[in-house]
Amino acid sequence: MAIERTLAILKPDCVRKNLQGEVIARIQKAGFKVLGMKQLRLSKEQAGAFYAVHKGRPFYDGLVEFMTSGPCMPIGLEKENAVADFRTLIGATDPKDAAEGTIRKLYADNKGENIVHGSDSAENGRIEVSFFFSTAEIV
Ligand code: RTP
Ligand code: MG
Repeated sequence: MAIERTLAILKPDCVRKNLQGEVIARIQKAGFKVLGMKQLRLSKEQAGAFYAVHKGRPFYDGLVEFMTSGPCMPIGLEKENAVADFRTLIGATDPKDAAEGTIRKLYADNKGENIVHGSDSAENGRIEVSFFFSTAEIV
């Protein structure tokens, strides 16, 4: 299997609940290498651009509102089969549907506020890591 990059974002609900350490520990225990990590507050423009694929969907405005509601933590990750393995680790979008033991099942309140983002393809993993980290910040 190929080495891939995937982007995690510890969403504002994760930071508000002070769960950053617990979630990062689960990510590390699952074998992901941390390439870069930072904390920032997204502007409306940044959040809108990051989730541009969802523009026009009924949840888009609420998603941008939520993602800009407080600090978040983008984390660039690398591993063999990183994209699929990370999505397995975090579970389904709606915590009600997420498998037992997944990060969203354990910590998320609802489908909108679901603790963590994960890239959905290897191509998007590379694009999304580059959205938040310059070449010099990837180590
Ligand atoms: P993400 O991109 O954040 O990793 O989540 P995902 O792939 O599991 O889900 P996606 O379909 O890409 O949706 C992006 C984020 O939008 C919010 N959402 N809310 N209320 C709703 O029906 C709804 N649907 C999506 C969630 O925060 C979801 O993670
Ligand atoms: Mg998605």
